[in-house]
Amino acid sequence: MATTITITGAGGQIGYALLFRIAAGDMLGPDEKVRLRLLEIPQGLGAAEGAALELQDGAFDLLEHVEVTDDAATGFDGCDIALLVGARPRGPGMERADLLAANAGIFGPQGRAIAENANPGVRVTVVGNPANTNALIAAASADGVPAERFTALTRLDENRARAQLSVALGAPITGIRRVPIWGNHSATQFPDVTHATVDGRPVLDALAERFDDVQGWLDQTFIPRVAKRGAEIIEVRGSSSVASAANATIEHTRDWVRGTDDWTSAGVVSHGEYGVPEGLVSSFPVRAVDGEWRIVEGLELSDWARSRIDASVAELACEREAVRALGVL
Ligand code: NAD
Ligand code: LMR
Repeated sequence: MATTITITGAGGQIGYALLFRIAAGDMLGPDEKVRLRLLEIPQGLGAAEGAALELQDGAFDLLEHVEVTDDAATGFDGCDIALLVGARPRGPGMERADLLAANAGIFGPQGRAIAENANPGVRVTVVGNPANTNALIAAASADGVPAERFTALTRLDENRARAQLSVALGAPITGIRRVPIWGNHSATQFPDVTHATVDGRPVLDALAERFDDVQGWLDQTFIPRVAKRGAEIIEVRGSSSVASAANATIEHTRDWVRGTDDWTSAGVVSHGEYGVPEGLVSSFPVRAVDGEWRIVEGLELSDWARSRIDASVAELACEREAVRALGVL
C-alpha cells in the first residue's frame, strides 16, 4: 500500500523543493510508494499543475499518483501525512492579530477537513507560519483526531543551531548532537546547548576552550544568530528560506514515522511538561518512538534556561489568547 501525502501550498516555493525529494524516497525511504495530493488555492493551481507535470517527467519509481486540487475534502481524502505549508504571509500594514486571523481562516477549515477525510493515524506537520499557533488551530478544529497528531516544524531551527556550533567549534556537524529548540518558531525561541555534545564531549567544555566568555557568546552571538536566521535569509536572499525548510520538513516527518536514535526538536502539544501550559504547541527536546513523538523528560533547567523558555512560552500563550479573542478556539 502506498502512503498518501497531502502538501498544501504545493505550488509555492517550499512545495516545489519538497515534492521531488518526497517522490525520490527521501522522506519515507526507498521501498515506500507514495501518492501525492497537491492542495492549493485557485491562484496557485497553475504552479501546482506545472509541478505535477514535472513530477510525471521525473519518472519516479516510487510515485504512484499525483492529484492537484483546490478542494480541501479531496485534498485530504485518505491522507496519511499532511504537510501544511500554505499560509498567509504578513502583508504591508498587517498587525500580528490580522495575521493570526487570516491564518485561522486557513488552518481551522483544514483541521476540520483533515478530521473528516484523512486516514486514522494521520500525521500533520505544520510549516506555514506562525507554525506553532497554526498547528494549535488545526488541532483544535480537528474533532476526533488526537492533538498529538499535529506538530509544528522547529527542526530547521535545530539544524541552524547545530550548524552554528559546527562553525564555531570547527567540528563536523555529524558529531554535534542534542541541541534542542524550546518554545516558539520565532525570534524568542531558545536553542539550548546545555546538554549538547560534540563527538561525545560536552559542547560547553569545547566552547570554554574557544571563548573567554561563553555565556556572553551564547547570549549575544549564538542565540540571536539562530533565532533570527530566518530574517537573515530573507534579507540576503530576498525571500524566506526554501530548500533548508523543505529539508527540515522531510527530516521531521521521516523521523516521526521511522524513529530517532537520539533527541531532536519538534513543536508538539504540551501536557504540562516543564511547566509549559497544557494545550500549547511548543518546541521541546523529543524522541520518536513507535511512531510517536515523546518529550524527553527529567532534564535539569538552569535559571537562565528557565527564563529563556518562559519568555518564548509566554509568546505562545499570547498568540493563543489572540486566537481565542477571535472566537476560533
Ligand atoms: P510561497 O508564498 O512560495 O508559497 C505558499 C503557497 O501557499 C502559495 O502557492 C499559495 O498559493 C499557497 N496557499 C496559500 N493559502 C493556501 C491555502 N489556504 N491552501 C493551500 N495553499 C495555500 O511560500 P513558501 O516560501 O513556500 O513558504 C510557505 C510558508 O512556510 C510561509 O508561511 C513561511 O513563512 C513558512 N516557513 C516556515 C518555516 C519553518 O521553519 N517553520 C521555514 C520557512 C518558511
Ligand atoms: C524561517 O525560519 O526561515 C522562516 O520561518 C522565516 C519566515 O518568516 O518565513
